[in-house]
Amino acid sequence: MIARGGPRNLERVSDTRATQSDATGPRATAGDGLVPATFAGSTALVTGGGTGLGLEISRGLAQLGARVICASRSVEHHSALLEEAAARGWSVESRALDVREPTAVERLARELDERGGIDHLVNNAAGNFVCPAERLSSRAWRAVLGIVLDGTFYCSRYFGRGMIERGRGQILNVVATYAWTGMPGVVHSASAKAGVLAMTRTLAVEWARHGLRVNAIAPGPFHSDGAANNLWPDDGMRERIEEQIPLGRFGTSLEMAQHSLYLLSPAAAYINGECLTVDGGLSLGRNMWREGERRTPAKDEARP
Ligand SMILES: NC(=O)c1ccc[n+]([C@@H]2O[C@H](COP(=O)([O-])OP(=O)(O)OC[C@H]3O[C@@H](n4cnc5c(N)ncnc54)[C@H](OP(=O)(O)O)[C@@H]3O)[C@@H](O)[C@H]2O)c1
Repeated sequence: MIARGGPRNLERVSDTRATQSDATGPRATAGDGLVPATFAGSTALVTGGGTGLGLEISRGLAQLGARVICASRSVEHHSALLEEAAARGWSVESRALDVREPTAVERLARELDERGGIDHLVNNAAGNFVCPAERLSSRAWRAVLGIVLDGTFYCSRYFGRGMIERGRGQILNVVATYAWTGMPGVVHSASAKAGVLAMTRTLAVEWARHGLRVNAIAPGPFHSDGAANNLWPDDGMRERIEEQIPLGRFGTSLEMAQHSLYLLSPAAAYINGECLTVDGGLSLGRNMWREGERRTPAKDEARP
């Protein structure tokens, strides 16, 4: 078992790196360590691309040469990305988009298609909060299903049409490991993510003949302001979750973004319909026995 203090401290350090400028130079991006210019000449649209994981994916793609279109409801959420892009010479565009609105998604897809279209679509936008299923209102259920399941489908359908016409493109859907394990307290998000996982596998097969790849990434818990506010609002809660993670710490949005970039890159050209789990082992079976609790086998029982 890894000592609790160590990895948590390390994680806090990397959280800080992922969210603040460093006095010694530009802060790390998910593109560091990957082949420079991996995405040169391509265009990527990242939903929810101005905060949390979406921001790190946008930064990494931009650093590796992609023209990034950051799309979410509130363009104020894009200002940190736009400021950094201006300072570092990245090509980033900000667009207001509510992925729950099919006509708005279609309009943006048509407009971008007229300008050459997009090569990478990252369906990252989501909303989540904890609520027992019996108390969840129909409105709250619809809100989460609307962003995660409907939004992913609308973006995939409208941006996918252009990709099909051009005969190339990648879609990356951000799901969560509870898409297959379920998770008490977030029936809305778990149900929506399960749908997105099924959509990923379906479209991966349906659209492969058009030259498209469709994959997913399933993060375990990682720090973002949105997740911290809605899912683990106090340190005690965060520590209790952390204790259940075999690697003993939360992931970081930078780590999640690195794996996302890999799935979008030519290095993953033969990966299609896959879901990459990045959760420190959290979704695997837990140890039922605490250290020292398990009965030691008698000598003859242990013999082969
Ligand atoms: N953090 C975790 O521990 C964790 C674990 C597993 C999976 N995930 C998944 O990872 C992804 C990113 O999570 P995060 O923690 O980085 O979240 P976050 O920072 O809260 O980001 C959510 C983003 O979605 C955008 N958004 C919400 N509703 C939208 C809508 N209707 N249309 C367009 N954009 C919308 C938000 O921007 P606006 O408010 O400007 O619209 C925001 O930028 C999500 O898919 C989440 O489910 C996170």
